[in-house]
Amino acid sequence: MNLQRLRTEYQRGALSEETASTDPFSQFEAWLNEALASNLPEPHAMTLSTVSVHARPSSRVVLLREFSPEGFVFYTNYRSRKGSDLQANPQAALNFWWVELERQVRIEGRVQLLSPAKSDAYFASRPYQSRLAAHASEQSSVISSREELLSRIEELGAQFPEHVPRPAHWGGYLLSPDYFEFWQGRENRLHDRLAYSLQVDGSWLIQRLAP
Ligand SMILES: Cc1cc2nc3c(=O)[nH]c(=O)nc-3n(C[C@H](O)[C@H](O)[C@H](O)COP(=O)(O)O)c2cc1C
Repeated sequence: MNLQRLRTEYQRGALSEETASTDPFSQFEAWLNEALASNLPEPHAMTLSTVSVHARPSSRVVLLREFSPEGFVFYTNYRSRKGSDLQANPQAALNFWWVELERQVRIEGRVQLLSPAKSDAYFASRPYQSRLAAHASEQSSVISSREELLSRIEELGAQFPEHVPRPAHWGGYLLSPDYFEFWQGRENRLHDRLAYSLQVDGSWLIQRLAP
């Protein structure tokens, strides 16, 4: 399949040093709010990239569940492929692509486990079936069939008719960024890119990157 004829001109917006926030968290919040207000599908979906102990990268989509000056929170199975990558190498990258806004945000930083209390609170807020699924699914391991998973759910339903405790291997991660890049598509591939790098004194250095 040849996709060379697919060509979109990006002309919805601009990003300049004059109007961008000096704080990347405020800039991210402003763009996330615009994505939320635009009713985009799954504006909080982000690609998470990790690197294994053998230096092999892998990516998958996860949902951003909380965002604050401390960082970006997502939830998953700590024994999954991403979980073992992060245990061996606690560096990760996030990527948001808001196609309707012609915007991309890249975020990089260190990842740590969220506190058990915070993971408990979020787990308790999930629907009953999702809580059972967290127990039933040994995420990323090979299974023989879908039926195996469904019968496991049935067993767990009998075991936990109401209260479903959080499995110790399921919870949140907090990514604390030291690098952000905001990308706004522009005409003729002359896109705007502003990179924010955390300095040793805690300030952010803002630099324009060539598109
Ligand atoms: C829109 C979307 C949202 C997702 N959200 C999550 C999530 O929040 N947590 C999660 O563990 N997996 C989520 N997934 C599934 C992951 O992409 C992936 O299949 C799973 O986490 C296993 O990844 P791993 O084997 O690399 O660890 C989501 C997938 C999609 C497409």
